[in-house]
Amino acid sequence: MVLFNVSRVETTPFGDQKPGTSGLRKKVKVFKQPNYLQNFVQSTFNALTPQNVRGATLVVSGDGRYFSKDAIQHEKVSFSDHLDHPIKHLSYKINLLPSYQACRQLSRVWELLSSSFLLHLPFSGRIRQLHAARIRSRSPLIVWPLLSEKYLRSLPCFLSLHSAVLLLLFVFLGGVIITKMAAGNGLRRVWVGQNGLLSTPAVSAVIRERVGVDVSNRLVFGSKATGAFILTASHNPGGPNEDFGIKYNMENGGPAPEGITDKIYENTKTIKEYLTADLPDVYPSSLPSYVDITTIGVTSFSGSEGQFDVEVFDSASDYIKLMKSIFDFESIRKLLSSPKFTFCYDALHGVAGAYAKRIFVEELGAQESSLLNCVPKEDFGGGHPDPNLTYAKELVARMGLGKSNSEVEPPEFGAAADGDADRNMVLGKRFFVTPSDSVAIIAANAVEAIPYFSAGLKGVARSMPTSAALDVVAKSLNLKFFEVPTGWKFFGNLMDAGLCSVCGEESFGTGSDHIREKDGIWAVLAWLSILAYKNRENLGGGKLVTVEDIVRNHWASYGRHYYTRYDYENVDAGAAKELMACLVKLQSSLTEVNEIVSGIQSDVSKVVHADEFEYKDPVDGSISKHQGIRYLFEDGSRLVFRLSGTGSEGATIRLYIEQYEKDPSKTGRDSQDALAPLVAVALGLSKMQEFTGRSAPTVIT
Ligand code: G6P
Ligand code: ZN
Repeated sequence: MVLFNVSRVETTPFGDQKPGTSGLRKKVKVFKQPNYLQNFVQSTFNALTPQNVRGATLVVSGDGRYFSKDAIQHEKVSFSDHLDHPIKHLSYKINLLPSYQACRQLSRVWELLSSSFLLHLPFSGRIRQLHAARIRSRSPLIVWPLLSEKYLRSLPCFLSLHSAVLLLLFVFLGGVIITKMAAGNGLRRVWVGQNGLLSTPAVSAVIRERVGVDVSNRLVFGSKATGAFILTASHNPGGPNEDFGIKYNMENGGPAPEGITDKIYENTKTIKEYLTADLPDVYPSSLPSYVDITTIGVTSFSGSEGQFDVEVFDSASDYIKLMKSIFDFESIRKLLSSPKFTFCYDALHGVAGAYAKRIFVEELGAQESSLLNCVPKEDFGGGHPDPNLTYAKELVARMGLGKSNSEVEPPEFGAAADGDADRNMVLGKRFFVTPSDSVAIIAANAVEAIPYFSAGLKGVARSMPTSAALDVVAKSLNLKFFEVPTGWKFFGNLMDAGLCSVCGEESFGTGSDHIREKDGIWAVLAWLSILAYKNRENLGGGKLVTVEDIVRNHWASYGRHYYTRYDYENVDAGAAKELMACLVKLQSSLTEVNEIVSGIQSDVSKVVHADEFEYKDPVDGSISKHQGIRYLFEDGSRLVFRLSGTGSEGATIRLYIEQYEKDPSKTGRDSQDALAPLVAVALGLSKMQEFTGRSAPTVIT
């Protein structure tokens, strides 16, 4: 077993590490600052109870975005790694770690200087080819000729400014990050999804359900995880100039509650040191003593306080097992293999791709051609991995919702996921299902169509800005109902107390109490289950009940909540605050509000109540204030204004507009037409253009 030592590294606080709605999200360049990630990780360990740190099991993985591998464990396989391959092996064997480390740093510096110089050389292309060939063959034999060539060519680069800057960067950035800090802080083991990939819902499932194995592949009972670092910025773009993020999830599989995130933030303001272990970096699997996150298996290390294991495991199998225990896979398989039913799934190059083929193709028999963008990529293929009508362009076009109406008949069902696969968008042929309707329809059909719910629903819940479609279902089915602030953690408390089975948010999140995160693939399987159930007698003969039929029938029974959301992204933060302050001030006089409203649009009903949403958690009694500004109208219409808690730059203003229509003869209108008068009122009331300088929103959903 490889030995390791723990060191205390001095550090100084950063002032900007306050976790938002879902953890800390910043540009990659911010995370790359020396000690930035380390400070946050150590501040998190310091905010937990000792039982959740010392001797504990931690999951570390994420959506695979750029910088994730560095965050999990430094992974660069460099020239110097290959050069000192035998030396490294030997020094570990005979435990000469300190002297080995010193040699290695020198060889790294050497590598950096020479390779940066190589970039400027006319023949560098050929040299890079040789270098790549050497890495592929893993052969040390061609190292020496290369070295001498590099050596000769790189002498003048000691004078190069470029190299000096890179050298400085290296000195600051070397030797990253979470796995080493876990060992340094006395954790017992770290679980990593293969290639560092785990969707956010899969992390939640893994924390709650998984049993680990030891080096001999024997189950280690009692190895249940106590928490996880999820490396994701969710639906924000990825890449060297885009976003990275990290959030901590608790023992119940859900995001850390405000009590913990506040403590983490306090710790980040006073942190003085962090603990880290000198574990070896990731290395090709040819040497068993190095951790290779591309290969499933357990690697054990020995520190002064005992053993530390890193287990790399299959990213999908625990999650698939859970899905099979919830849904009737056989009936979904019948639907997907019926020639009448066509299907399309777009992972937007996020981590959902690591699950889509296994679940939809291998388990449920969908055609491989029904998967779009299902190869996870560090930069999401340059796209914005947010499943909505603006960003899921390819799927939207394929489903016949784009501007150009292609000749090809669109599939019956389409769905997309965000970067970390907790969000979902559900589409029918030329038909968009709003997330607010989606959760209401799932709740209305769950007991009949999904075996997991056959005994009945414990209750349902939605976030405040989500439309009241779910409220109507809850009332009609006599279910417990909760309205919570934006953020999945609020549902978690209700679920832990056995008060809620199904919940959802307008922000394309839908889920249930099978885990403590929203779940993009679960939502798709829920819809496929409903379709399978409604078509159980039609697959042989008879007309297919489509997604659109299901939604329209739902409106006919429960009424329709016309709904739209306008997003103004990357607005000046000061201007956004002023706009919100103005709306709060206005609330003190409803007479004034109604004068403004009728001046803008005479045919909308009156504002009867206006407030800032405040929530008292029925389980722990905690109070969350300032959760969005509401204007409620006499006819049930609502305007809600909120600042997003998930952006990484500037401010995003969200404007939610909703109108209820009970008359079945009026539920079939185009939603933007139906809502146009209320939209005009919202823009006028908030003086949107005056404050933001924007004449149109960035995204409309
Ligand atoms: C994340 C959270 C959701 C929340 C959403 C809101 O996805 O997990 O629970 O609804 O962010 O984002 P916003 O940008 O509106 O704060
Ligand atoms: Zn997400």
